[in-house]
Amino acid sequence: MKQIKFQALVVSATEDGGYQRGLQWKRLEDLPEDEIIIQVEYSSLNYKDALSANGNRGVTRRYPHTPGIDAVGRVHRSSVNRFSSGDRVLCMGYDLGMNTPGGFGGYISVPSSWVMALPESLTPLEAMQIGTAGFTAGQCVHRLLELGVQKQQGPVLVTGATGGVGSIAVRLLAAQGFEVVTVTGKPDQHAFLHEIGAGKVIDRQKFLAGADKLLLRERWAGVVDTVGGDFLATAIKGTRYDGVATSCGNAASGDLPLSVYPFILRGVTLSGIDSAKCLMDRRKAIWEKLSGPWRITGLATICRTVALQAIDPEIDRMLAGGAKGRVVVDMREASV
Ligand SMILES: NC(=O)c1ccc[n+]([C@@H]2O[C@H](COP(=O)([O-])OP(=O)(O)OC[C@H]3O[C@@H](n4cnc5c(N)ncnc54)[C@H](OP(=O)(O)O)[C@@H]3O)[C@@H](O)[C@H]2O)c1
Repeated sequence: MKQIKFQALVVSATEDGGYQRGLQWKRLEDLPEDEIIIQVEYSSLNYKDALSANGNRGVTRRYPHTPGIDAVGRVHRSSVNRFSSGDRVLCMGYDLGMNTPGGFGGYISVPSSWVMALPESLTPLEAMQIGTAGFTAGQCVHRLLELGVQKQQGPVLVTGATGGVGSIAVRLLAAQGFEVVTVTGKPDQHAFLHEIGAGKVIDRQKFLAGADKLLLRERWAGVVDTVGGDFLATAIKGTRYDGVATSCGNAASGDLPLSVYPFILRGVTLSGIDSAKCLMDRRKAIWEKLSGPWRITGLATICRTVALQAIDPEIDRMLAGGAKGRVVVDMREASV
């Protein structure tokens, strides 16, 4: 029988306390033994992957390691009845790409509870253009709607707007008729943000003016914050009475320098968003929206596709805060 070999991005610790990454050939036997082996067609680059690829022990405890928290592909082998060889499936989050070899390898081996059928109306490429970042944006929008935010109540603010989560959140909110105000640190990307649906673009530093105040003028009916720190605090201080801020990211900081006043004087709700352990029922419900009524048009404006060999500079760009939109990783040539 033909031996399957596949390429994987492997991040290793070096003797001087640093980390190096490079492509290696692997065999199926190198993967952990688990219920489902998937031949990966596409993965995508998320912030967590960039951290893992850079030796962040908060994300990945054990190296050598293959990052990639997203994967879409075909079932190669399944020991459970729910999935059969050849099924097109999606696997994202849980421990994939954290301490389990991830989607930056040509095959993954995972528990069946992490796997769902690829929604029929999405191509594998589209699923990874959305990926964890887009799914997270979907969760944020879903939460705002669940908690009663309506477009007549005022604009929704999106921070880290040119990033993966931010840009898809802008697109989703604009498509649903919300007035979207964005915060960005990229002066040369204002036109891009308007193109994907932002009504107004605020420069990052200008947005932080007044960050030392306890409360700011009431502006935002809702917030999708991807960066944390002073940005989330400033956004919450400017959230309207009964408004909702969602927090999903920490690209700027994990701190939240804030008083209780927005909560006890304005009834603001702060709602946390996690995609990694999002329950399967909710996961499927969000994907149903993303592949149906919320289907995102113009994904090509937001996403680029690169081969696994070209992922390295994308990782560095993301860690430097320079990411724009989403990067899909084409894994179709990564196995023989
Ligand atoms: N909770 C979850 O389950 C979940 C899921 C996915 C992602 N996340 C988190 O969400 C965040 C965004 O993820 P992503 O995939 O969108 O990453 P990304 O593509 O790298 O986007 C992050 C964006 O944040 C802005 N930014 C970066 N550094 C900043 C800084 N120092 N100060 C202010 N803004 C900064 C930049 O946008 P501008 O230049 O436009 O400001 C950047 O493009 C990350 O923290 C990630 O870990 C969480």
